[in-house]
Amino acid sequence: MRRYHVTTFGCQMNAHDSERIKGLLEDLGLGEARSQEEADVLVFNTCTIREKPDQRFAAHLGQAAALKQRDPEKVIAVGGCYAEAQRERLFSLYPAVDVAFGPGSIAHLGEWLGAGGHGIARGAFGTGDERRFSAVLPLHRERRFQAWVQISMGCNSKCAYCIVPAVRGREVSRRPGDVVAEVSRLAAEGVREVTLLGQNVNSWGRDLLPDVRTDFGELLRAVDAIDGIERIRFTSPHPKDFREPVIRAMAECSAVCEHTHLPAQSGSTRVLKRMRRTYSRERYLALVERLRDAIPELALTTDLIVGFPGETEDDFEQTVSLVQEVGFDGAYTFVYSPRSGTEAAAMADQASEDVKRERVERLIDVVQGVARARNAARVGGVEEVLVEGPSRTDPSLLRGRTRRNTTVNFAGSATPGETVPVRVEGATSTTLRGTQLAAVAA
Ligand code: SAH
Ligand code: SF4
Ligand code: F3S
Repeated sequence: MRRYHVTTFGCQMNAHDSERIKGLLEDLGLGEARSQEEADVLVFNTCTIREKPDQRFAAHLGQAAALKQRDPEKVIAVGGCYAEAQRERLFSLYPAVDVAFGPGSIAHLGEWLGAGGHGIARGAFGTGDERRFSAVLPLHRERRFQAWVQISMGCNSKCAYCIVPAVRGREVSRRPGDVVAEVSRLAAEGVREVTLLGQNVNSWGRDLLPDVRTDFGELLRAVDAIDGIERIRFTSPHPKDFREPVIRAMAECSAVCEHTHLPAQSGSTRVLKRMRRTYSRERYLALVERLRDAIPELALTTDLIVGFPGETEDDFEQTVSLVQEVGFDGAYTFVYSPRSGTEAAAMADQASEDVKRERVERLIDVVQGVARARNAARVGGVEEVLVEGPSRTDPSLLRGRTRRNTTVNFAGSATPGETVPVRVEGATSTTLRGTQLAAVAA
């Protein structure tokens, strides 16, 4: 039997696409290899959000090309956002690549590779209007009790720094009945937690008009009503589209977790405007207040960019103070990376690498300090933990996640998939430590 290996870069959307790629390859009759060396078909599912993932892919492909030189029978297939950004150029940049496909044409990978995965399809890019939901494809799930569910593809926002709309296309929502059917199927298979995925989950459904009149709040309620689903997460909501019905649904649906990843990008209204985020610092803060009024236990995480063109020391200080004022439970901090073809890449006042580096280090310090204090405040309390498996650092402990999405390493006797109460006994800026309550009693 021929075997495949998939290497995934980028966001949860890509990780989920890789589950579809694997499912499809298995349908073609291939088995999964443990390493690239042992594989006949090497797939790379790429990301191009910043320059760093581009560089990581280049390094990986160098290794793959060397393997192929030793064994010319190996097939190298490259999918995902970097492939879509480069399109046909990919074949001249990386002559070892046999098959290339964008995020919207995973379904075609089967035709290009053919049964057994022998195929070679240079220049195999679909046109934009052939984009299909990968959700209709077979699925090889990586986790037994947790699952990603795609609710939309593409993005209609115009964030000045972002390449995603160019590589993932206009937003298309999946029909509510299809989403509910998939979640019901997953629940019947034993899935306890679903994460609804979209570039902007809060604009979900708008493009279904006039056929279907709905919104993301309704979708949350429909998924909440499915038997067996204990936890619902979603990522990401754009702050500009976070409306009252969604906040109410979050507060009223018992399965919707007390966590929102709410990308702020900057704390400076002036920078937010230049980024075309279409909200101000004040509007962001007002939204945080409304969310916390409705869901008092809510954990908030965010994405922040430093060194956007024209960002002054004062603008940057406002991002620092936003972190302190909101009190984020965690934040991904990114150094601005110009992406070719985006509006911001053409702006005149690009920040120097030194300034960006220095600012991101200061910001990380503040983010970690705030997150550490937020987690420390939870010591002594009891949290509901969904068990995921053994701890990654200490195999004598279990690992799981709280409803607020914090990883907990704990002493206990539960099995993966169970939800158990854990007393929190220690905290770092990113994880908690504790003991399962039942285990204490025993
Ligand atoms: N659709 C999601 C985010 C997708 S990209 C949303 O809007 O929330 C994930 C994160 O990458 C963004 O939130 C942003 O913080 C960061 N990012 C995107 N483009 C970037 C760039 N050119 N340079 C640095 N960070 C970037
Ligand atoms: Fe990019 Fe903005 Fe769309 Fe998110 S909302 S994917 S940051 S353009
Ligand atoms: Fe995700 Fe990277 Fe594409 S962040 S949408 S895989 S550019």
